Amino acid sequence: MNPVPVALLGGTGLSGRVLYSILSSHPTFKCVSIIGSSASEDRRFEEVWEEKEKKLEEIHQNVGYERLPFPSNSDAGCVRPMTFETFLSSHTPTSVKFVFSTISPSLGFLETRLTSIGFTVVSISPHGRLPSNTFVIEHSLSSLPLAPASLYKSPNCVVCGLTPVLSCLVSNLRPLGLEVSGLTITTMQSLTGRGDSPYDTELCVGNMLPVGQIEDTEQYITSELNGLFGFSSSMSVDVRCYRGGAARCHLIDLRVLVGGLFVEDIHVQTDDVKKWCEEYDPCKEYYDLARTVGVHTTKAENTPIHFSSNKTGMLQSSVKGMTVVVTNLAVEKKMIKMTVMVDNLMKGAAGAQEAKNQDPTPSVP
Ligand SMILES: NC(=O)c1ccc[n+]([C@@H]2O[C@H](COP(=O)([O-])OP(=O)(O)OC[C@H]3O[C@@H](n4cnc5c(N)ncnc54)[C@H](OP(=O)(O)O)[C@@H]3O)[C@@H](O)[C@H]2O)c1
Repeated sequence: MNPVPVALLGGTGLSGRVLYSILSSHPTFKCVSIIGSSASEDRRFEEVWEEKEKKLEEIHQNVGYERLPFPSNSDAGCVRPMTFETFLSSHTPTSVKFVFSTISPSLGFLETRLTSIGFTVVSISPHGRLPSNTFVIEHSLSSLPLAPASLYKSPNCVVCGLTPVLSCLVSNLRPLGLEVSGLTITTMQSLTGRGDSPYDTELCVGNMLPVGQIEDTEQYITSELNGLFGFSSSMSVDVRCYRGGAARCHLIDLRVLVGGLFVEDIHVQTDDVKKWCEEYDPCKEYYDLARTVGVHTTKAENTPIHFSSNKTGMLQSSVKGMTVVVTNLAVEKKMIKMTVMVDNLMKGAAGAQEAKNQDPTPSVP
């Protein structure tokens, strides 16, 4: 099979570099263009990469940032990033099948320009996210558009991590006549969530940064969860976000209030939720099909949720890849409480390309 040519808008940024690491040895895709700002234009990609990784290491050395190595197993050494205008003058929607976009929301107009001239954009940027174009593969597989669309979005990285867990709960509660009737979400997000741009430490309260002061993350999480799950407008979704404490991986305190017709009669136990998490695998058939047709996916080798009963032994830095970790689980009366951990750069960013899985034959990483 000929590799599918793709371009990476924002490919010189942190999320872009993680995605490029996957694409550089990808059996289905070939990255033919890295698009960055004029600061990276025509420089050796490796040089830009090393410079940015060195800076991140310096900024986050006290929380143990591990440098992302420049891919050695590809022709990456010859790659030179180009500006958006150069990309437009040298590529067409025929020469580039998908543009994977890891651009900041303020540059979302670049995505609009691309779709307006016929490119298909697969994006992690908050710009232009709507319930109708936003997907998390585990939850959305059955509701993906049947006809190819021009824009596929994946939600905020916290939502990428919470969605498999909530989807698991919703699908197991429903047959019991129960439902999710309230959510309280407190995040302790990684410092790498801001990519190559460091935060101003003067904004910290103690050693944590209240995200709501400077970013719209709390609103994104609320509206994107409502959009994905169709929660009723009267349901309380209460979100508070903080940053600090880890160079990679977001830690999320999740409290789910259970309601519904039979809530006084049926009492969910901690062991029930543990079993639900361990058995949850909604994409199994899809991935089995992918394997039989020889198509590669970035899906976790294991099931989407890893349940860890060890409350103290799971380091944030060991949460890497597409699997979401659930630990610290307790069910008390009508409240399910747990800690969820997600790799913000893999599951939250690079793996988001799975949002594009609308074809009967899977064709994305
Ligand atoms: N970091 C995370 O954990 C994470 C997770 C999920 C989603 N996201 C989302 O990913 C997006 C990017 O985040 P990031 O952390 O990767 O940011 P970042 O490291 O700051 O990267 C920003 C990218 O945008 C490029 N850029 C800036 N101005 C440009 C222009 N005029 N034309 C073309 N490219 C331009 C930069 O190019 P140069 O390097 O050449 O200047 C760089 O490649 C955001 O929307 C964020 O919400 C981030």
